[in-house]
Amino acid sequence: MKKIIIAIDGYSSSGKSTMARDLARRIGYVYVDSGAMYRAVTLYALRHGMAADGKVDESALIAALPEIGISFQPAGADGVQHTLLNGEDVEREIRTMEVSNLVSPVAVIPEVRHRLVALQREFGNERGIVMDGRDIGTTVFPDAEMKVFVDASPEVRAERRVKELREKGENVDYAAVLANVKERDYIDSHRKESPLTQAEDAVVLNNDNMTIPEQMEWLLDLFKKRSC
Ligand code: DC
Repeated sequence: MKKIIIAIDGYSSSGKSTMARDLARRIGYVYVDSGAMYRAVTLYALRHGMAADGKVDESALIAALPEIGISFQPAGADGVQHTLLNGEDVEREIRTMEVSNLVSPVAVIPEVRHRLVALQREFGNERGIVMDGRDIGTTVFPDAEMKVFVDASPEVRAERRVKELREKGENVDYAAVLANVKERDYIDSHRKESPLTQAEDAVVLNNDNMTIPEQMEWLLDLFKKRSC
């Protein structure tokens, strides 16, 4: 079996990160959550006073890009891969609503995207990688052997996100989360620089009515076909 690149793209909270992480673990591949990288840059902007009223000070953030180091610590006993910002574990902080609300405007900045895409390609140098995001199959790895585009309705995605945030102890309200999901969909798919679109050669997975084990079976089936 040859080592391949697996690109999993789709809307926010479509379950693609869980699916990508579980798939990587099952097949012994490296997993990279590209959204976590945009979130880490956003957290840096928030911490350094580069964001106010939902707006980002683009020039300050662009000037600071060389100071922003992002890496991953492989999954430990909790099975979760941790995102490091300049060596500090920020896995929890990058998942808050404060970061979620600002990440789309950060992700539209071309200089931010160029830097993160270059880093993402380095992670894929040796293949044997599963990466999830918005532009992985279209821009980061257009030659990926396996491309999946995950789709689910905004309502189902908002419900999942509320559950996830409440489990982490965040007090959130469904309407606010649904509004955030829809707003991010809009910004992500209308931005100039590599908008969220389905790659022509991607296979669509609509998981509105699928269980996690059903999704895994679907992915493993496709993986077998693409890696032999
Ligand atoms: O997958 P996520 O919700 O953690 O992603 C956070 C944000 O990052 C999302 O609103 C869009 C952006 N993003 C992107 O523009 N390109 C990627 N490859 C991954 C994420």
